[in-house]
Amino acid sequence: MCGIVGIVGKSARDIVLNGLSKLEYRGYDSAGIYLNDLKGHEYLTKKVGRISNLKAALTPDEQGLVGIGHTRWATHGKPTEANAHPHFDVTKRFYLVHNGVIENFKELRDNYLQNVNLVSDTDTEVIVQLVSLFAREEKLDTLTAFKKVLNLVRGSYAFLLVDNTQPDHIFIAKNKSPMMLGVGDGFNVIASDALSVLDQTQTFVDLQDGDVADITKDSYKIENLETGAVDRPAHKVNLDPDAASKGTYEFYMLKEIDEQPGVIRKLSQTYLDSEGHPNFDPKIVDAMSQADRIYIFAAGTSYHAGLVGKAMIEKMTNIPVEVDLASEAGYHFPMLSKNPFFIFLTQSGETADSRVVLKEVNRRNLPSLTITNVEGSTLSREATYTILLQAGPEIAVASTKAYTAQIAVEAILAKAIGEKLNVEFANEFDLREELALAAEGMQQLVDGKEKLQELAKKYLISSRNAFYIGRGIDYYVALEAALKLKEVSYIQTEGFAAGELKHGTISLIEDGTPVIAIINDPVTNELTRGNVQEVEARGASAIIIAAKEFARESDDIVLPEISYLMSVFLTAIPIQLLAYYASKEKGLDVDKPRNLAKSVTVE
Ligand code: F6R
Repeated sequence: MCGIVGIVGKSARDIVLNGLSKLEYRGYDSAGIYLNDLKGHEYLTKKVGRISNLKAALTPDEQGLVGIGHTRWATHGKPTEANAHPHFDVTKRFYLVHNGVIENFKELRDNYLQNVNLVSDTDTEVIVQLVSLFAREEKLDTLTAFKKVLNLVRGSYAFLLVDNTQPDHIFIAKNKSPMMLGVGDGFNVIASDALSVLDQTQTFVDLQDGDVADITKDSYKIENLETGAVDRPAHKVNLDPDAASKGTYEFYMLKEIDEQPGVIRKLSQTYLDSEGHPNFDPKIVDAMSQADRIYIFAAGTSYHAGLVGKAMIEKMTNIPVEVDLASEAGYHFPMLSKNPFFIFLTQSGETADSRVVLKEVNRRNLPSLTITNVEGSTLSREATYTILLQAGPEIAVASTKAYTAQIAVEAILAKAIGEKLNVEFANEFDLREELALAAEGMQQLVDGKEKLQELAKKYLISSRNAFYIGRGIDYYVALEAALKLKEVSYIQTEGFAAGELKHGTISLIEDGTPVIAIINDPVTNELTRGNVQEVEARGASAIIIAAKEFARESDDIVLPEISYLMSVFLTAIPIQLLAYYASKEKGLDVDKPRNLAKSVTVE
C-alpha cells in the first residue's frame, strides 16, 4: 500500500528515494518527492509508475536537506501525476504526503473550499488546501492550522507536512495508519515502515493514534490531540537490515519460500521448551483455555492459515473454532458464544479490515490475541496479547513464509491449550519432533524445486485457468494454493473441495485444463482419487501432490512422511513453487503482481 519517507537534516534526495525503493514491494502506482535545500530552492517531482521513473526525472542539482516522499496506491482518483503526492496548496507554500483515507473529504471540500481551485481528485489535496486556508484567513501558525484541520478530519492518516516559510521543520500527524519517527545524530527521519530507513538509524519512536509532531534536525516535539503533550520514549529496534535484501535471488518470493524450513525451526526453538512443551505467556494460554469458542479473523492468505489453524486447535483442544473473513465480520459481526476468545492473524499487523473487527472486540471488552510478523504493528498494539511470527521481513507481495509461520504458531498454541486442558491427543502429540520432520521435509521439497518448474512450464503457463482440489485440510490448502497461483501468474484459479466440483463447476473442465489434486487426508484420499478420474475423463490434465502413504507411482509430487495434521507444511512448498515458476516463466514481475499491495490499510 502507500509508503512514506521523510527526512530533515541530511541528504534528503538519496535517503527518501532509497527508502521509497525499499517500500516498493508493498505495491504502488505512482510516486513523488518534495525537496528543499534550505537555501531558498525547492523541487517537486511526481511520476506515474516505478520509482525508477521518478529517479530518472530528477536532475543532479535537485537536492535537499529536507524531503518528503510517497508511493501511492490509488484510492481516490486514477494513478496520474496530478493525483500523486506530495500535494500542495494554491499558494504553493505547503506540501503534504498522506497514507490512509479521509472519509469526510467531500464534506470538508464542500464546506470550506468552494472558492479554491483543486487540481487533483484526491482526499489528500483537500487537507493541504485546508491547512493553507486556515493559515491565511485566520492568520494561524502552521501547527495550529494543521491541528485545526486534524480536528475536522474523519478517517485514517499518516501525514507529513512541509511549510516552505519554515522549511527546516516537518509536521507529522498519525491516526490509524502506521508511522515511525527515527532518531538520528543531527537528523530525524520519518517512515511508514522502519524497514525503509534502517540504514539511517535503529532508534525509533512509535507514534500513536492522535499524535501530532513537529520535528527539526535536532528535536522532536510530540503532542496528542486528545491528551496534550506526551513523552514517547525512543527504543532500539531489533531488525537486521540485511534480512530485507534479496542476496543472490532473482526474486524475494523464492528467497522467502526457501527460508521456510529455517523459520519453522526457529519457531520451534522459540516457543517450545527443551521438553517440547509450549512456553507462551501463561496469561494467553489461561485466557484461551477458558474460552468456549475461539474466533479467528483474517484476510486472504492469513484467512487460509486460520482455516488450517481451526483443524489443529479443534483436534488438540476440543474447543470449537470459527474462522471469519475480517472484511465481512467487521460489519456483520458473528453471533458470539458465552466466553469467546478472538485471534487476529495478520502478517503485516496493519490490515484495515481486521482492525475494524478488533475495534469492535475491544468495544465489547473481550480478550484478543494478534499473531503477526510485525512487532509494534497496529493490531499488535491494540489487542490484549501478541505473539510474533519471527519469520523475518516478508517482502514479496505474495505471502509464503508468513503463512507457514502462522500455522506453526497456531499448532504450538493448540498444543499449549490442549495440554492445559489435559486433552489426550495434545499431551501425546510430539510437536517438537513433528515440526523437526516438517522442516526436514520442507527442505527436501525446496531442494527439488526443478520438478515444480517443469510442471509449471508443462501444464500452467499456457493455460487460461486451473483448479486445485482437496478435502479436509487439503481443501484449506487448495484455497491458498489457488490464491497464490492466481495472484502472481494471473491464471484464473479456483480452490475447490474435491467433492464439490461435480456439483456444477466441472462444466468448466476442458481438454488440458490443469487440475491439481492434493491428497494427504487418510479418510478421504480414495474419494479424491475418484474426483481426479472424473475430471480426467472430461479432458483435464491432472497433477497429483500426494502423501507418501497414499502415493501411486504416477503421482507428480510425493511428499515426505509426516502426520496428516502437519501435512500443510509440506504441501505449502510445491503449491508456492508452482505459483512462483508459473509467474517467472511467464516473464511477470513475481514480487509485485499488478494491482496488489503488501499491507492493505484501506477497507
Ligand atoms: C496473499 C496475501 C494477502 C494477505 C492479506 C492479509 O499472498 O499476502 O492475501 O494475506 O492481504 O494481509 P495480512 O496478513 O497482513 O493481514
